[in-house]
Amino acid sequence: MNPFLEVAIETAREAGEILLTEFDRPVNISYKGEVDLVTQADKRSEQAIVAKLRSHFPKHGIVAEEGGGTDSESPFRWHVDPLDGTTNFAHGYPCFAVSIGLEEAGELIAGVIYQPVSGELFTAVKGEGAYLNQKKIHVSSIEMLATSLLATGFPSVKRAQNPNIRYYWDFTMRSHGVRRDGSAALDLAAVACGRFEGFWEFGLHSWDVAAGVLLVREAGGTVTQFDGQPYRLGDRELLASNSKVHSEMKDVAASIAESIASGVPLP
Ligand code: IPD
Ligand code: CA
Ligand code: CA
Repeated sequence: MNPFLEVAIETAREAGEILLTEFDRPVNISYKGEVDLVTQADKRSEQAIVAKLRSHFPKHGIVAEEGGGTDSESPFRWHVDPLDGTTNFAHGYPCFAVSIGLEEAGELIAGVIYQPVSGELFTAVKGEGAYLNQKKIHVSSIEMLATSLLATGFPSVKRAQNPNIRYYWDFTMRSHGVRRDGSAALDLAAVACGRFEGFWEFGLHSWDVAAGVLLVREAGGTVTQFDGQPYRLGDRELLASNSKVHSEMKDVAASIAESIASGVPLP
């Protein structure tokens, strides 16, 4: 097995155990913003992940959501979300995951998303395909937006400025529906294994998506910005799909942006 993936899997499983232990305890929430929560679980999980990655790869950089990472000159950089779906976690809604992605000089080369409640382990290595619990996965073969199931998410900061409710409304009317499940990592994993045909969101961070973007690409999907430009870590807009509905989703996103710009109100 790819040595980076091997360590990432072991690390994600250990972090998942921490999340499960914390999930059974009374939750202790603090706030990074108005509705931007952080729990003891985020912190404990991140400490464990960072310590393990550091011990295996002391020269690599680590970008971790709760700030425990390290800068480095190395071309290898890990992007770590120790608990994606904190709001779900804090409310006892069992939809959350550990997400660990590895970038080499701007290219995603390995990724793991682990959902400890269901035991689903999504893995990918660049050029080697994507897997769910060691079985190869592929994006869905649905060809039309009208028969697609989609997903999106809303940010927990600057909520009022975010235009996504327009996109949510419009895509809902044009598809079988849009899910909002509160974990971007799991949303991307669901596109990779064919549960959702598409996913979009504004303002995600590298730790939310590094592993998921690689999973979608390795499963035959496409990940771009809303205008179709290739998605790179840190870009503001992300549009992921099974490839087949990508151009339709891109056109819809463009028409929504146009109506917003010309001041058309929500119906
Ligand atoms: C959040 C989740 C959510 C997305 C938010 C993210 P967190 O991550 O991925 O689905 O809509 O934009 O911030 O805070 O739970 O790690
Ligand atoms: Ca996240
Ligand atoms: Ca998080």
